[in-house]
Amino acid sequence: MTEIPEHLLKRSRAAKGKGDAPAASDSTAVTPTAAAESAPAAAGPPAIAAAAAAVPADSPAPQAPPEPAYIVAANNRKKIPLWALPLVAALPIWAIAFAGTMQQPEVEDPLFTGAEEVYLVEGGCSGCHGGAGGGGVGYKLSDGSVTETFPEPIDQMVHVARGSSAIQGESYGAERADGTRESGATGNNMPAFEETLTLLQLELAIFHERAVLSGEDTSSPGYQEWMEHLRELEEEGNEDPIDLEFLLKCANPEFTPGATGEGSDDEDHPCPGPHEESEEVAAG
Ligand code: HEC
Repeated sequence: MTEIPEHLLKRSRAAKGKGDAPAASDSTAVTPTAAAESAPAAAGPPAIAAAAAAVPADSPAPQAPPEPAYIVAANNRKKIPLWALPLVAALPIWAIAFAGTMQQPEVEDPLFTGAEEVYLVEGGCSGCHGGAGGGGVGYKLSDGSVTETFPEPIDQMVHVARGSSAIQGESYGAERADGTRESGATGNNMPAFEETLTLLQLELAIFHERAVLSGEDTSSPGYQEWMEHLRELEEEGNEDPIDLEFLLKCANPEFTPGATGEGSDDEDHPCPGPHEESEEVAAG
């Protein structure tokens, strides 16, 4: 006897299935499976759904079988529309291009990098005052705190060069909202940097604490002149030592114990720091 090919058998079985109404209409669970058999070439849930939907059309069975929950979910799920696919594919390229625009400018001002280095390394100020000047063993310097104590950089230079034990118990600085500073009041002393730093390094540390950490306004011509002067000294690798006697002549006796305030009589050797008065003198 010749064998009947399997697919023909399936076809006849499917045709018979119409007559065998009980099998098809009795159980809803069976119907999709039987329908799937009638479309053997198709595979996957969508094919089943299509076939299942086709059944009621040529079947006397009145109600369509409910679709399985996973097919309903698949059909209702939001899909990325076809037109958006190239956009989605291009996202990584956009991300790389965008990251490129976020890079820091390459050019760095040697004044700022040099000043930060003294604060962090040569002076080690950050060890006691915090990397951002938030304070620690030593006072907080940031957020306008150090400029509140020292309205002018020159008095701060003397304080850092001389240290605080040399004026133990004495008041220094301007009157602050929380009172006037008294040397040694914290129970710790500010070390003296007269022997450890050069004058340029001292000025750089003070510049960093004021302009960068404390947010002092640097826009005045006198301040800009001071910054330019520091850049020049950096460029020539200046290593002049700190002359505390000279700094005390430049400092304000109102804020600095032992200061004379007489200033410098040497034009080639002016007091360190911004010179706002020089503009007025020149104008007057
Ligand atoms: C070993 C810890 C230590 C180091 C290092 C240190 N300081 Fe101080 N600093 C202190 C202490 C403590 C005080 C407060 C001392 C006191 O009570 O008189 C202080 C006070 C100060 C003040 C006074 C602030 C104010 O508002 O009264 C300034 C300015 C200052 N330090 C700057 C510096 C600079 C600049 C450097 C680095 C060149 C530095 N300090 C390094 C511990 C330190």
